[in-house]
Amino acid sequence: ACLPAFYGTIPGVKVSVLLPAAGSGERIGRGPKAFLKVDEKTLLEWVLEGFAWADEIIVALPKGFEDTGLSVLTVPGGATRQQSVCNLVQVATGEIVLVHDVARPFVVRAAVERLLSEVRTSGAATLAVPVPDTLVQEQSGRYGAVIPREHHRLVQTPQGFRREVLLQAHLKARVEGLEFTDDAQLVRWQGHPVALVEGDRRMFKITYPEDLLLAEGLARVWNS
Ligand code: CTP
Ligand code: MG
Repeated sequence: ACLPAFYGTIPGVKVSVLLPAAGSGERIGRGPKAFLKVDEKTLLEWVLEGFAWADEIIVALPKGFEDTGLSVLTVPGGATRQQSVCNLVQVATGEIVLVHDVARPFVVRAAVERLLSEVRTSGAATLAVPVPDTLVQEQSGRYGAVIPREHHRLVQTPQGFRREVLLQAHLKARVEGLEFTDDAQLVRWQGHPVALVEGDRRMFKITYPEDLLLAEGLARVWNS
């Protein structure tokens, strides 16, 4: 069969990839994570390669790091992730937008294709993975009630939306002064259902110093 270049895209429907990269990387403590290297490439370079098929890519950069030396559209980052994405979505031109944390360098093609197919039909979706460990409430340092993990998911990115849906949600949240940690929450808050699509554990977020060691290991066998 003759497959399209990237399953999930359709000719004539433009996809914009929005990359919030403006965080300060406090938990690792080595500056903005977008510029940390894994196997000789910055996290930003890894992600740009992973989305090379997209019609448009826009990156929100931290103050003082505007000069990446890369040829890519940029906007100023905001004080929070939500504000960075708000700046991004306002300049996006695609009918569909995918928002992806630059702190997740490994872009698994099959997972992104699953997401795009869902966004095309329902207008809003996020990748998410099952909780692998027992999940428990902490009660003053003691083992509390166990939360049924089969009813919970760990949320990843990319998250995909029809641009208008995400834009309107961001503008409303700004007016109301509400802050959410991801875009799926924001869109759901506006009453739009958000589909859960099976993610991939390789799309983990580099958050703590040891995550960089895991990333170095994965980079060695990476070929997609
Ligand atoms: N981000 C952003 N603008 C902000 C804060 C975060 O664009 N004001 C981005 C980060 O660059 C990252 C993603 O949102 O790609 C997820 O954020 P997180 O993992 O929390 O990164 P940091 O905020 O940089 O890290 P930390 O919380 O440890 O400071
Ligand atoms: Mg943060």
